[in-house]
Amino acid sequence: MSGVSIPGIERVLFTEEQIDRRIRELAAEISRNYQGKTVKLVGVLKGSIYFLTALTRHIEVPVKIDFLGISSFSNKSGAPGVVRIAKDLDESIEGEDVLLVEDIVDTGFTLRYLLQTLAGRAPNSLAVCTFLDRNSRRIVQVHVDYRCFEIPDRFVVGFGLDYNQLYRNLGYVAVMKPDRT
Ligand code: IMP
Ligand code: MG
Repeated sequence: MSGVSIPGIERVLFTEEQIDRRIRELAAEISRNYQGKTVKLVGVLKGSIYFLTALTRHIEVPVKIDFLGISSFSNKSGAPGVVRIAKDLDESIEGEDVLLVEDIVDTGFTLRYLLQTLAGRAPNSLAVCTFLDRNSRRIVQVHVDYRCFEIPDRFVVGFGLDYNQLYRNLGYVAVMKPDRT
């Protein structure tokens, strides 16, 4: 799926080429920082899968992968913040060098919950790698170790990110038209 004449899409924010180039840079940085170690990439389903697999193709230290799934709920006033694990990891992360891989860090609620949960399982190290970062909407402060791109305060889709489960398979990242979100 590559055409840009898709209803609901306003403009392309990052092209396939820009994404590929940036992922290679990030993978090189990760490879340097994990020299002599095995890195376990923990992907958050489903948004991170395109980014995670692309990263693994360019990381030059031994790589393991595992996934977890989450559900998030809004409270009665519509505020985000309630997160729980809907599908847990297949394996223990005790003693492992874990790199948590996210599609996007927005308010930070999801990431804070995941970091607290994973930190309690005694990994040797725990770091965060996100494809997109929308820092302007952050509510809880969370540390992000690696990011591909900072994005403006607009709803985006593609390269894993969805709108009602659609558009994840776009090779690029695009901004949705305001009336579609
Ligand atoms: P937060 O950081 O807890 O607010 O939540 C981040 C989650 O919200 C991400 O993992 C996405 O699933 C979803 N999300 C936030 N912004 C967008 C967007 O622009 N497009 C698609 N999903 C988004
Ligand atoms: Mg998500």
